[in-house]
Amino acid sequence: MTQDVGSGAVGSPVERLDGQAKVTGNAPYAFEQLTEGAVYLHPLRAPVARGRVTEMDTSAAEAVGGVRAILLAGQVEQLDTRDRELAVLQSREVAFRGQYVGAVLATTPENARHAASLVRVSCAASPPDVALEGDRADLYAPEVVNPRFGTDTEQGDTDSAFEEAAYFIDRTYRTPMEHNNPMEPHATVAHWDGGELSLYDSTQGAHSVRATLAPLFGLPTDRVRVQAPHVGGGFGSKGLPHANVVLAALAARSVPGTPVKFAVTRQQIFTVAGHRTPTIQRIRLGATRSGELTAITHDVVEHTSRIKEFAEQTAVPTRNMYRAANRRTTHRLAALDVPVPSWMRAPGECPGMFALESAVDEMARECGQDPVEFRIRNEPSEDPETGLPFSSHNLATCLRRGAEGFGWYDRNAPARSSPDAAGWIPGVGVAASTYPVFRSPGSRALVLAEGSGRYRVSIGAVDIGTGARTALTQIAADALGTEVSAIDLRIADTALPYANVAGGSSGTTCWGTAIHEAAGKLRAEHGSAPLPGASAEGETTSNPESGRFAMHAYGAQFAEVRVHADTGEVRVPRMLGVFAVGRVINPRTARSQFLGGMTMGLSMALHEEAVLDHELGHVVNQDLAEYHIATNADVGAIEITWLDEQDPHVNPMGSKGIGEIGIVGTAAAVANAVQHATGVRVRQLPITPDKLI
Ligand code: MOS
Repeated sequence: MTQDVGSGAVGSPVERLDGQAKVTGNAPYAFEQLTEGAVYLHPLRAPVARGRVTEMDTSAAEAVGGVRAILLAGQVEQLDTRDRELAVLQSREVAFRGQYVGAVLATTPENARHAASLVRVSCAASPPDVALEGDRADLYAPEVVNPRFGTDTEQGDTDSAFEEAAYFIDRTYRTPMEHNNPMEPHATVAHWDGGELSLYDSTQGAHSVRATLAPLFGLPTDRVRVQAPHVGGGFGSKGLPHANVVLAALAARSVPGTPVKFAVTRQQIFTVAGHRTPTIQRIRLGATRSGELTAITHDVVEHTSRIKEFAEQTAVPTRNMYRAANRRTTHRLAALDVPVPSWMRAPGECPGMFALESAVDEMARECGQDPVEFRIRNEPSEDPETGLPFSSHNLATCLRRGAEGFGWYDRNAPARSSPDAAGWIPGVGVAASTYPVFRSPGSRALVLAEGSGRYRVSIGAVDIGTGARTALTQIAADALGTEVSAIDLRIADTALPYANVAGGSSGTTCWGTAIHEAAGKLRAEHGSAPLPGASAEGETTSNPESGRFAMHAYGAQFAEVRVHADTGEVRVPRMLGVFAVGRVINPRTARSQFLGGMTMGLSMALHEEAVLDHELGHVVNQDLAEYHIATNADVGAIEITWLDEQDPHVNPMGSKGIGEIGIVGTAAAVANAVQHATGVRVRQLPITPDKLI
């Protein structure tokens, strides 16, 4: 690792460099590109959840003015893929309701939509199978769980340990199907011209879209260009290109020379952009009389689609959170007639830690111990499964500092308080949070001296609204020993060096390391005042220390709730999050990441639930009116702090990643607080009034 030059740019609360452009409407998003002469795409969608399309009558649609083309399933050019999510319009088989079976292109979005509504799609259908149950006979073990973790783990003898335990709990927790709903719905502008495909796409990874699409369309990689200048959130749903991106490109190929614009509607997001699988999680814990965990098992059942497997790593955090000699985790899947699940902010860790941190709270009460002290007592001194030391592990400090800051020890210890005059019952809860430090190899950055102390830094990374543009500029300035204003950062384009997807809270690690390497090389080869035109390239490798240390970020989540004694309504007036995430590159944008994560966790605790119709197989509440996401009125005071954590092992910046840890544990803290207030343990999210009265 090169030595940090350190200009002070890293660690300072730099305002978002694109903030002004964004709030004044001058930051162009994907859909705003290439408007001249464009046509608009409206998709045709399967009206059944299982079966096949038998006929599509387009005569009325063809008569609509401005219709340029109609694409139908089974009647388009072949795509080179075995990925059945991306094999768009390749067959007339229907695997889930809402699947694309065609598209209409017209010169206005209104005409495209109207014409699409006139296409009569007939299907031969059979009843869909969409209900996840823990005892389904067809549950199976996937080979790996996301991203490549082992499916099951087992150590010691959990059965005997449970038998011998002084305290034992056996609980089942459920989390519902949930949907990523970025502020900017998915959108693509595709332009097929002279054998080249260029896309403006709302994506978390321009290079990953190119890498997926080029072979699909039989194009060499350098004939495909993807740009994502500004992206209004993704939360995982834009991490991999979904069928909408392929459909836009397929349509563009049918009208060469004409840009095709496809804005996925909010309703369509609920079927085509991925979702969080529902989970059924059985957790068993055994403990000694003095409250030491002796055995932990976490058995997860979740769904995937019939056409493509996605196995969420729900029990993975349980593998290293707490010490216990006897332990087991398993993941089982049911392949159903549902849309393809995918990443949603902290996939795995988020629902998994709801269950584990609820169970730990239940066990602490069983043992008669304070939930903060119980957690600290059961901290592992090294990774319980691998025996590796942690690169840094400051969960206990987060818990202690949080307990002090929150006034934890002043609370009413026993569960169930009395209502105040207005009928509100107060309660407080705590939960731990964690997220692994991921670092993928391969991201590259180019640093070019422009003269007069200025530098151009190029990397094909995408800022999905996290503030990456600003953080990377700070990292470059720091590594080059200069000011933020001396850096001209170019991102979000496959014409720039390869960059990994903005996912797994690893963007800053993957891209910042490449920038750091490039800057170090430039200084080593050309000194601290390089001549104009001097340049150097840096590449992120796998972490050479990954075999020597277990690397995770940690946090402590505290929540105060009020539950209404008559209505069961839950309010969350106050939350506190304390995080240990290595070095914080930009405290201003970092705070926003935690704030957003905790808000999303509150939303998960109280509101979010996609309801699948078991007869028809679709999500009933497919809009923001009925799929409620926490808004300002739902959120009280959220206080966020972090430790000054030094971790030299994770990357040259010492940063661990902050995009996802904020959501992890929040729902458990709320559920634990609801239990403290009411005595009612809600093991099925969301915590709606019907579960409390
Ligand atoms: Mo995140 S769910 O890894 O985009």
